Amino acid sequence: MDVLQRLDAEVDKFCNSVRFFREPLTVERAKMFVRQHRLNTRYRNSVLKLSVAVNTPDWDTRMGIINASSQELIADHEFGGGKPHWAILEEQGEHIGMSLDDIRSAQPLQTTQLCWLAWEALMKNRHWLEGLMANTCAERSNVPGYGTGLFRELGWFGLERKRWGDLFHLSDDQLVFFSLHEEADIIHSNFGWQTVARDAERLGMADAAVEACRINLYVWQTYIDGIAAAADALEGKP
Ligand SMILES: [Fe+2]
Ligand SMILES: [Fe+2]
Repeated sequence: MDVLQRLDAEVDKFCNSVRFFREPLTVERAKMFVRQHRLNTRYRNSVLKLSVAVNTPDWDTRMGIINASSQELIADHEFGGGKPHWAILEEQGEHIGMSLDDIRSAQPLQTTQLCWLAWEALMKNRHWLEGLMANTCAERSNVPGYGTGLFRELGWFGLERKRWGDLFHLSDDQLVFFSLHEEADIIHSNFGWQTVARDAERLGMADAAVEACRINLYVWQTYIDGIAAAADALEGKP
C-alpha cells in the first residue's frame, strides 16, 4: 500500500470505532459537543496548530497552516461569511436552545484536558510532517468515503448536519457550522494528504506519518467519546 492508502485505512478504522458516530445523537450529546468543541477549536488553533507551523520549514506549507487556523479563530471569508468557526459554533448552540452564558462558561472535561496534553506531546517538538498529520487527520473524517452507511455517504459533519436537523428541526441555514466544514475540510485535509504524498517518502517519514495519523486519531476518539460519556452521565446513564 502507498502512504495515502495507509492513511486512509487509519481514518476508516477511526470512523468505524468512535461511539459518538455510531450511536444515536441525543440532546445532551449535542449540547456537550458545542461546549467542548468551542474550547477545543480555540485551543488547537491558537496554540497547538501554530506550534506545528513554527516547525514547518517550507514557507507555503507554513502559511497554509496559519491560513487554516485564522479561518477557525479570526475570520473565514471563504466559507464562513467572515466569521470564525468558533463563533459559528456558538450560533449553532443557540439554534438548539442553549444560552451564550451556558456555552461560554463551560470548562474543559477531564478527557478534553488529557487530550490537550497528549496533543501537546504530538504537535510540539515533532517532525513537521508528523505535526501536519496531527493538524489535519481528523478533518479527513468530514470527507465522504470512510466508515459505513450514511457516514460514508456524507462524512462526519454531513451526518451531523442531518442528525441535528432531524433532532432539533433546523433549517439548512441553521446548520451552517456543519455544511461549511463539508466544503472547507476537503481543502484542509487535502493539504495534509497531498503534502505527505509529496514529501513523506523523500524524507524517509512514511512510517512515521502513518503512525502519527493513527495515534492522533486515537486521541480524537478519546476526546469525542469523552463528550458522549459526559453527556450521558448528565442524564444519569451509565
Ligand atoms: Fe473549523
Ligand atoms: Fe478545517
